[in-house]
Amino acid sequence: MLVSATEMLQKAKAGHYAVGQFNINNLEWTKSILLTAQECKSPVILGVSEGAGKYMGGYHVVVGMVNGMIQDMGIDVPVALHLDHGTYEGCQKCIEAGFSSIMFDGSHYPIEENVQKTTELVKIAHEKGMSIEAEVGSIGGEEDGVVGMGECADPEECKAIADLGVDFLAAGIGNIHGKYPANWQGLSFETLDAVQQRTGDLPLVLHGGTGIPADMIKKAISLGVAKINVNTECQLAFAEATRKYIEAGKDLEGKGFDPRKLLAPGAEAIKATVKEKMELFGSVGKA
Ligand code: 13P
Repeated sequence: MLVSATEMLQKAKAGHYAVGQFNINNLEWTKSILLTAQECKSPVILGVSEGAGKYMGGYHVVVGMVNGMIQDMGIDVPVALHLDHGTYEGCQKCIEAGFSSIMFDGSHYPIEENVQKTTELVKIAHEKGMSIEAEVGSIGGEEDGVVGMGECADPEECKAIADLGVDFLAAGIGNIHGKYPANWQGLSFETLDAVQQRTGDLPLVLHGGTGIPADMIKKAISLGVAKINVNTECQLAFAEATRKYIEAGKDLEGKGFDPRKLLAPGAEAIKATVKEKMELFGSVGKA
């Protein structure tokens, strides 16, 4: 059964470890992540971007697939199905479709509008027993080939959004999505510390988990980060394993190509990546 992410993240914050959010794009990714969580006895959050939701056929498809896997594969670790960087409309759709958690990314709205929309979504989500994440300070990344540095959140704004009743908060601390540029300044622990001081026990979220050195991950966890999002690293592992398999020419022999064989090395590569992250985040054995 799907669960909200609130309890697993409160436990993680209190226990000084983090739960991974791994984004899903198709059946193979979802299966690999769930099997690894089960093997590692780790709680897990499946992240779904609006684009990935559309790709998979819609939010109801995603809910049906994930619930079916939990049942048929005997997954009994806590699993949250979470909308990643949701728009206001996307959040409403996922609430209706049966997700167990949403992120409302109102960071591009003026603060008053972000507050108003977040307040409304907190109320609806909590009425349904779902968890809700908000973001303050936009998380940078690559757009049209231009790499922007991550913006640092204003700790007072974080406090204002936390007070609306969100269950966990993503605060920009110089983190970005995708690969980090060579001249990246690193995470701003000063900002993270200031945010935690103002938000107390609220679990904090670190986006852009790909490529952050292990010592920075550990320090971020020690300063209140209880959820770490990883997407690009699984994509890179999947692509590399698939490329190697195709280059080896195995699929071109015999009866032509078997989609299950073609996607198997990528699925295994995702399992290895997820396991490595769960070990680094300290969530192994915490289910
Ligand atoms: P990466 O793609 O950098 O791992 O970031 C994932 C993320 O933050 C999803 O919200």
